[in-house]
Amino acid sequence: VKANMVVDKAFQISEIDPRVYGSFIEHLGRAVYGGIYEPNHPTADENGFRQDVLDLVKELQVPIVRYPGGNMVSAYNWEDGVGPKEDRPKRLELAWRVIETNQVGTNEFAQWAQKANTDVMMAVNLGTRGIDAARNLLEYCNHPGGTYWSDLRKSHGFENPHNIKTWCLGNEMDGPWQVGQKTAHEYGRLAYETGKAMRLVDPDIELVTCGSSNSQMPTFPDWEAETLEHTYEIADYISLHQYYGNRSGDTANFLAKSLDMENFIQTVIATCDYIKAKKRSKKTMYLSFDEWNVWFHSNEQDKQIDPWTIAPPQLEDVYTFEDALLIGSMLNTMLRHSDRVKIACMAQLVNVIAPIMTDNGGNAWKQSIFYPYYYTSVYGRGVALHPVVDSPKYDSKDFTDVPYLDPSVVYNEEKEELVIFATNRHLKHTLEVDIDVRSFEDYEVVEHVVLENDDAKAVNTAKQENVKPHTNGESYLDGGKLVGIFPKFSWNMVRLK
Ligand code: AHR
Repeated sequence: VKANMVVDKAFQISEIDPRVYGSFIEHLGRAVYGGIYEPNHPTADENGFRQDVLDLVKELQVPIVRYPGGNMVSAYNWEDGVGPKEDRPKRLELAWRVIETNQVGTNEFAQWAQKANTDVMMAVNLGTRGIDAARNLLEYCNHPGGTYWSDLRKSHGFENPHNIKTWCLGNEMDGPWQVGQKTAHEYGRLAYETGKAMRLVDPDIELVTCGSSNSQMPTFPDWEAETLEHTYEIADYISLHQYYGNRSGDTANFLAKSLDMENFIQTVIATCDYIKAKKRSKKTMYLSFDEWNVWFHSNEQDKQIDPWTIAPPQLEDVYTFEDALLIGSMLNTMLRHSDRVKIACMAQLVNVIAPIMTDNGGNAWKQSIFYPYYYTSVYGRGVALHPVVDSPKYDSKDFTDVPYLDPSVVYNEEKEELVIFATNRHLKHTLEVDIDVRSFEDYEVVEHVVLENDDAKAVNTAKQENVKPHTNGESYLDGGKLVGIFPKFSWNMVRLK
């Protein structure tokens, strides 16, 4: 099967904000306890952080990690997680119905983030709490000293402020599952007033206002329109969350789900711009896609978990090869919108719907989805170029005109490197793509990485890595033209220099 594509230096979408390769650690399941933190683990450092996990996180070059939730933040008292560990209360954690020991909190996470070479994206509780708790937490984290909360931080052993720049005004406040769910009006007012107070504490912060919990919410996109009426001038970003699954076992339809993401992004942009016009505002609202992934494998098993246990294995999806392909396409979709999507967080990072898995006391390993995330994060830095694509298409159960070829293109001027990421959604045939790379004269193919597998349901385990890329891709240059050879049902990265 053949396709065509034009790539040109002049067709620039935008500089890619590295924070689109962000991730997320929630106090949920074994993300924190048994994931990033396990004091008795053989690789634990003096702070109890697992080095094997840190190494894998560093390999991904994750620039920002959202914390501490998620649904959990909506009933969280941040004060429980600071000060001497022996004095910290155990609490009923209502979002996931477990016991939270609070052995990790704000300071420990900031410390971990520093070790992982990443920034913290902090969420405040707008479920059970509001302006007061948020402004106190911000003062605790960012104020240099000489006030109650900043001096308390110092007394807890953290002399220097954490200087956390990006703050989420609550989490999924439209969702009926959220403790303290709000109507759009209630949320809009609360988020605005909270943001206003936070800006008074620290004018340098950036704020993320909550968008809809997913594209299927009955209140989408009214929620965005109504809440932005209140928060437009205070917020810098609006959040999007989306998870996909393949419950019906329809792979062709599953691989097309990034088209829903595309549509979701476009609708949110349109809604933001509508409010911008209404307000005669000069400001552009950016998008923070701060939860995205595949999530469905663990749904049934999670129903069996007894409540009020400590760090049970919740949301431990074991990812398949086909999941990795959709992840590649979701990343491509966001890169094609890099002019508006400035932050994105793969949800989550360790154990909980995550690219990195661990055994308590044992090994850490890479799930299938680690790979497209890794390559896109490491090599997808620079300027996103608009790929002009002419691809054959197919129809699936929920989508029409699904292009077999799903690419994104990145030009790294500094490294003089052109990188093409491409998913071939065709389940049976190789895609041979004529790629006009006219403005990249004298470039040569340095690497063609392919993630392919005959078994859509192949998974990685602690013992065996069944899904991993190879570098024997066959793309080649032919008289100044690049011929992309993308095997059936595969994800690819072609790097030229
Ligand atoms: O990431 C898992 C959960 O998904 C988060 O806690 C919540 O925000 C979303 O519904």
